[in-house]
Amino acid sequence: MIEVRGLKKQFEGKEVLKGVDLEIYDNETLVILGPSGQGKTVMIKSMIRLMEPDGGEIYFDGEDIRKLNRRELEDFRKKIAYVFQNSALFDFLDVRENLALFLRMHKKLKEDEIEEKIVKALSFVGLNDDVLDKYPEELSGGMKKRVAIARAMIKEPKYIFYDEPTTGLDKKNAELVSNLIMVLKEKVSATSIIVTHDIELMEKVSDRVALLKDGKIIFIGKKEEISDETLEYLYSIGDTYEV
Ligand SMILES: Nc1ncnc2c1ncn2[C@@H]1O[C@H](COP(=O)(O)OP(=O)(O)OP(=O)(O)O)[C@@H](O)[C@H]1O
Ligand SMILES: [Mg+2]
Repeated sequence: MIEVRGLKKQFEGKEVLKGVDLEIYDNETLVILGPSGQGKTVMIKSMIRLMEPDGGEIYFDGEDIRKLNRRELEDFRKKIAYVFQNSALFDFLDVRENLALFLRMHKKLKEDEIEEKIVKALSFVGLNDDVLDKYPEELSGGMKKRVAIARAMIKEPKYIFYDEPTTGLDKKNAELVSNLIMVLKEKVSATSIIVTHDIELMEKVSDRVALLKDGKIIFIGKKEEISDETLEYLYSIGDTYEV
């Protein structure tokens, strides 16, 4: 379980997070919606201290992660996968090495065991071995996303954070990614936290929905519990898929 209390973050006097409170249950998929520039990315980065919060408390399974030193933080992040808004693959590494990185750094595996895990993860996201020797710049946006999800899967994480996983994808790829998010969660029995303005994604994958507005979470609950007024607001800020 993740508990966030009064999380604050500002940049040069501009308060982006004004006291975010959030509880995320084990094995749920929580979709956090909010308009562009509201601080969704800042919020999830602050939750795992990719950005340092200015205030508030963050507990993962009861552990106060704001108290961790650099080394402990690195250890803590082993159980977390983060699919960045721009996929964030290493441009100077081919797909194989992008996928192998975590295993090489943190697991004592033989080369053939690493290769086996990589090929398995790729096939899970619907890509074949052809892409292993390709560099990120040679991949389409949808393929990069899929490689990023394969990389998340290889970590066998307890928590997976997705930042705008479907943004910029066409309808077909967006649906594929939505499906992968659902299947991956079952496969590694992870808790998924997704920030997005994609309403269709929310409809499809969420167990619960949260809404970030003016630096705070103003609603959290099941999608059936969203008021008509809030729903209208969501649609007014939401993306629809590009055709
Ligand atoms: N490193 C930074 N330095 C200064 N300001 C920042 C930094 N990162 C984010 N901000 C500001 O914080 C605010 C929230 O940004 P954030 O990227 O979290 O929004 P978002 O909700 O993820 O938007 P989008 O939907 O477009 O991805 C913005 O005003 C942004 O300019
Ligand atoms: Mg963002």
